This record gives sequence, structure tokens and C-alpha cells, in this order.
Amino acid sequence: METGNRLSALSLLLSAVFSQCVSQINPAQIDPLIYDEQLLWVSGAQGEVNTYRIPLLTFTSKGSLLAFSEGRKSKSSDLGAKFIAMRRSTDKGSTWSPTTFITDDDKNPDGLNLGSVVVDEEVGSVILVYSICFHQYHCSPASTMMMESLDDGLSWSAPKNLSVQLGVKAFAPGPGFGIQKRYKPAKGRLVVCGHGTLEGDGVFCILSDDHGKKWSYGAALKSIPYNQKKRAQDFNPDECQPVELTDGSIVINVRNQNNYHCKCRLVVRSTDGGMSLPVEGLYFDYTLVDPAVAAGALQKDGVIYFTNPANEQHRINLTLRWSVTDGKTWEEKAVQIWAGPSGYSCITSLNSGSAEDRKYIYVIYEKGHKDYIETVSFAKIHLFGGR
Ligand SMILES: *[C@@H]1O[C@H](CO)[C@@H](O)[C@H](O)[C@H]1NC(C)=O
Ligand SMILES: *[C@@H]1O[C@H](CO)[C@@H](O)[C@H](O)[C@H]1NC(C)=O
Repeated sequence: METGNRLSALSLLLSAVFSQCVSQINPAQIDPLIYDEQLLWVSGAQGEVNTYRIPLLTFTSKGSLLAFSEGRKSKSSDLGAKFIAMRRSTDKGSTWSPTTFITDDDKNPDGLNLGSVVVDEEVGSVILVYSICFHQYHCSPASTMMMESLDDGLSWSAPKNLSVQLGVKAFAPGPGFGIQKRYKPAKGRLVVCGHGTLEGDGVFCILSDDHGKKWSYGAALKSIPYNQKKRAQDFNPDECQPVELTDGSIVINVRNQNNYHCKCRLVVRSTDGGMSLPVEGLYFDYTLVDPAVAAGALQKDGVIYFTNPANEQHRINLTLRWSVTDGKTWEEKAVQIWAGPSGYSCITSLNSGSAEDRKYIYVIYEKGHKDYIETVSFAKIHLFGGR
């Protein structure tokens, strides 16, 4: 009896040790399969919205998924009045709440533009940062706004004007997610990166060390020539997605707006918690061919995932790639999520550490048959081929 108990205790211990070992991802095991896909928004199908665009997706501390998009009221343009649309899933993406509009900019000729969503796991909040009047079209100045949910996305604070702290430089966060640093340096810091206006463009990050109360500008990677009109092939870093590597550095995957050097992604890295983005660390990722678009990136269990429409000319061919070398190289085997028109994308995953949550990543993207602005689609992807 006692021996039996000891034996089962030993086998429990052994299996715990063993599962620690197998939890190291073997790159050969990754064999992504689109496990489930559903359209979250269909442009033109709902009364007050002409076009849904700019999808964001995040996990929450409680293990829910939140999807956001711009509900553009009267036209597909980046300008004009909009809602922020949200849907919420508490069952890992199987079912979704009806759409709620969490804010409405009324008739603003240059309304809101999404945006970055960032989860503060230390306090369990979800923060959404976006801009209004970004293009300064019949309005001024541009403002950076923030909304916060303290109840897992069910309710949202009124928009708060961060430009009071940050100044009125036009700043378009994301689109995608911001990060909370999980590793040193600056563990716990919120880092939201975005870009400037076309002339004053570049990658800029705003930082908060107190869970989103106070924000200040950190790292910048400015366009050349800065604050001047650009020409084709000028250096013009634009929309971007930061991810934190397990060594605590932040790698930012950037839209190369004017195709400087290549029609591919630009990558830059911060090793000081988002304070600087030294050009010495900048490189062009020739494998990640890109038509100049907002792309998705994620670090999960030491593997980097990346989604974009992998085509030099057109927003088509939404492709998932993965890297087991922190993005230095990409596995040969890429997975095509959608062959047709596809635009912006964002990736997230649940990170409870459960065996179930280790198996999936979730991708939200602009998808269509004739044009990528027709729908916003959610794909649940099994990383191990459904095994
Ligand atoms: C936000 O604050 C800035 C700086 O005080 C101000 O100029 C701007 O008008 C404000 N924006 C909104 C929408 O209130
Ligand atoms: C789609 O992406 C894959 C992977 O990068 C590439 O091999 C293929 O040529 C692309 N197809 C088109 C039509 O762009």
C-alpha cells in the first residue's frame, strides 16, 4: 500500500518532469492546421456601418478573447466617423458575443483610428489606445486616446485624452497589440508602439510604468528625411507590431512603407525596455516579402509566428510563418491561410500554460473574395496539425 503510493508519487513526479521536457517545442512538430474559422464582421451587412477594417485581437488575464475593429460609418476610407466594434469570446473562440460599439466619434470628419490593445496581467486590465484626428483633416490637433476595461472587456471607461501627457504629435498606435514586459529589463512596463503621419513618420513607442496611468514617449526610429515629403524608396518605417523575446528584448516588425531597400519587412530591436531602437540592430527580412501592410506577429513558447499577405504587389495570400530562431530564419513550410484578397492581421494566444492553450494560436484578418475589406475573419489554428 505504502510502496504503491510512493510508486505513484514517483510516477507523478516523473510524468511532471517528462511533460516539462516535451513542452520544449520541437520545430518539426509544428504543423499548423486551420481548425476553425468564422467571420466576425461583414462590411455593409449592418445598418450603421459601411466597412469594418483594422482588426485587433487579444487574450485577457481571465482567458477570454477580445476582437476589435473600426466600424467605418459611411465609407471605406481611413477618414470619416467610426465606431470601435468589439466582440468577446469566453470559450476559446468557439462562440462570440454580439457586436457592441464601445465608442462612437459621432460625425467627426477625421474620426478614430485603431489602435493597439494591451493587457496588463499584473492588474488584469485591458487597455485600448487609438488616435483621433490623426490626418488633421478638417480638425486639429491629433489626439492619442485610451479606454480601459477592468472587467474582462464587459465594460469600458470613457475615452481619456493621453495627449494631455504626451503632447499632440500625431501618433497612430499599432495596429495590433502592445506588450507588457514579462522579462527584465523593465518587467511590468506597458509598451505601445505605432507610427507618425506620413511626413513625420517612423516607429514611436509610448511607455507606462504604472499600469497605464502615466505615459511618456520612449524609443523612436525616425523616417528619412524626417518631417519632409517622402519619395518612392525613402526610409519610412510605418505600422508595426512589437513582440517580447524570452531574453527580454523587444523585436518590432515594421511596415516598410516606401519599399526602402526591398519589398519586405523591416525589423528593429530594443534591448532597453523600449527606450531606444538603435539602427545598428536594424535589418530587412527578405523572407518576409510584403506589399506594405500591417502584419501580425507573436512570440509563444519561444517560437515567433508571423502573418501577412505574402506578396510583393498585392494584398493577397495571407500566410502564416514561424521561426524557432527568434526570427533570424523561418521554417520552409509556411501555411497559406487565405489565397485571395487579405490585408491587416493580428495574432494572439491564451497563455494559461495548460496543454490545451499551448496548442492554439488565433489570427484575425481582413479577408475577401474581390477585395480584402469585405469581411473580418477569425481563424483558430492548431499548431500541431490537429494531433
Ligand atoms: C487632447 O489634449 C490636447 C492637449 O491638451 C488638446 O489639444 C486636444 O484638443 C485634446 N483632444 C480632445 C479630443 O479632447
Ligand atoms: C504565397 O506565399 C507563399 C509563401 O511565401 C509563396 O511561396 C507563394 O509564391 C505566394 N503566392 C502568391 C500568389 O503570392
